[in-house]
This record gives sequence, structure tokens and C-alpha cells, in this order.
Amino acid sequence: MRIGVLTSGGDCPGLNAVIRSVVHRAVVDHGDEVIGFRDGWKGLLECDWLKLDLDAVSGILARGGTILGSSRVRPEHLRGGVERVKGHVEELGLDAIIPIGGEGTLKAARLLSDSGLPIVGVPKTIDNDISATDVTFGFDTAVGVATEALDRLKTTAESHQRVLIVEVMGRHTGWIALNSGTAAGAHAIVVPERPFDIDELTRRVGARFEAGKRFAIVVAAEGAKPRAGSMEFDEGGRDIYGHERFAGIARQLSVELEQRLGKEARPVILGHVQRGGTPTAYDRVLATRFGWHAVEAVHREEFGRMTALHGTDIVMVPLAEAVSTLKTVPAERYAEAECVL
Ligand code: F6P
Repeated sequence: MRIGVLTSGGDCPGLNAVIRSVVHRAVVDHGDEVIGFRDGWKGLLECDWLKLDLDAVSGILARGGTILGSSRVRPEHLRGGVERVKGHVEELGLDAIIPIGGEGTLKAARLLSDSGLPIVGVPKTIDNDISATDVTFGFDTAVGVATEALDRLKTTAESHQRVLIVEVMGRHTGWIALNSGTAAGAHAIVVPERPFDIDELTRRVGARFEAGKRFAIVVAAEGAKPRAGSMEFDEGGRDIYGHERFAGIARQLSVELEQRLGKEARPVILGHVQRGGTPTAYDRVLATRFGWHAVEAVHREEFGRMTALHGTDIVMVPLAEAVSTLKTVPAERYAEAECVL
């Protein structure tokens, strides 16, 4: 068989582990040929590819990023894009395509699959917000990075008696905020799923100082918002691809809390550091399993589906299911974390 692989959307620790696993299973075990497209769907649109053999994937298991490069280009957003992709798939004699990506990538994969292309998807995102899989690789690494940062920030916050508002990634969901905030014992967590009450947040942080504590840590998912009308709030805008770009919840909260509490507050934006660097062992294992199962699905001709983790098993689920809704943080998790507003 001839299989094409690509990585698309925001990068994520563990992408290289999937690529390596696909090549090992397909080339070594099945005798397939694997080619990789550069920079996501863009490579398939422009027929820009390289051969992926054992040498090409040697030593990449623990490496962050993606050896194939990534972009947010989507075929369905370009005039004639879908037809161009189909033409190149035929020209290259591909029997299957394995796109590795998040919500946007999987939506494109579903559309291409519906148009007749043989596709097996692999979900990825540090945000952990893809429904139909219990976990996505990259999430564990991102939570680890954020937790370590929060632990470090506590000591400097205490030295200066400050409120630190730490912004973590999570456009639509608060998984990273919830888990890193819980792991580090944050004093308040705000998430996109539930607009927070600024008065309650002020009270909660203020109560810590009144109780004699010298600092407070607030974790804010980048997509968190105050309840409508509760504070002046700049929602941000959109980037050149039409993706939401937030105006900086941490900056806005630090100004607001400093004024309300009369305590020094500082915003800390962790940003892309959460996406970079070596994946944790958990993410390497999950990514490797996804790669292996994607190749098996290709050989069973189980197209239009993606790999997913259900409990401890890897299963195949329809792409349609994967992109239907986002996996948001359920309300019972807020209660467990105690400090979600
Ligand atoms: O989708 C993953 C993600 O990390 C989001 O949490 C974040 O909003 C976005 O990517 C940032 O994307 P970019 O790297 O394009 O700025």
C-alpha cells in the first residue's frame, strides 16, 4: 500500500511519535510505502512531499514539534482545494491518507472522506477538547509544563505578596486550566465553559489576603470570559484565518483585580511553551498506539474513521462523531477542583 501522512493545525508534543509509529508499522511490518506531506494540507495541495522510511523517523520519538511541519491551511477554504487534493491523491497513487490534527483538521478530513477519499484520522491537541476520544496526546505534556510553571510562580508571588494571573491555553475549553490548576493548588480557576463572576473572584482572592496569606494564584484559560456586563472586557478579534484571537484575559484580570483589591497583580501568559518540547511518556505511548492502530485501520479499509482512546482501549470512531461537538469540562469536575468559579 502507499500511505500519505500529514500533520496539520497547531503542533503538539507527540506528533513525531505518531509519524514514527505509522512508519514502523506500515513499512516494517506490512511492507507499505509511506510518504509525508509538508506543512499539513498545504503539502497535499501543492504536492510537496518526502519519502518516510526508517532513517527519516530515526530518533524522533521524544522530539517535540513535527518533522513534517504544520500549517492551518484547509483545502475546503480554498477555491478548487478539494479537487486539487483529490487530483494529487490519484496522481501519487495513494491508497490512504492519515491526517493527524485537531478539530479543524478532522473537519477537513471528514469532508474529504465524504467526497470519497480513503482517510483514517488521528486526533491531536493539547487542549484535549476533541469529543469521541477520552484523551488526546499532547495534553499530558501541556498540563505538566503548566503545573511546573505554577509551582514556580507561587514562590515569586509569595515573595512579593502578589496576585498572579496565569493564562494557559484553551480557546474553547478549560481542560488545561482545570488540571494544572488542580495539580498546583491554584486559588481560583476560570474556564471558557462557565463565564465567571468578577465580584466572586475578587471576594475569593481577597479572602486569602484577609486570612493572612501572602499571595494568590489565579489560573485563567485563554478563552475564559466574565459574565456579561460584570466588568469591562475586550473580547479580542480574529486572525488572518478567521480563528479567534483573545485580547488577553490575564492582562485584563490583573488590571481589574489590582484595582479592586489594592494588591499588586501581574499577568503571566504561558503561551506556546505549553506546546513545545519533549512529550511525556504518557503522550509518547498514546501517540505510538494511535499510529499503530491507524495503519491497522488502513489495512482493514476502515476509512472515514479516526483512532480514539476509550478507557484503556484504542478504538475506531466515525470522523463525523469526532467533529460533532467539542468535549467541554463537565460541571461535576468544577466541584472536585473546588476553586473553579
Ligand atoms: O488548538 C491548540 C491551541 O494551542 C489553542 O489552545 C490555542 O488557542 C491555539 O492553539 C493557538 O494557536 P496558534 O499557534 O495558531 O496561535
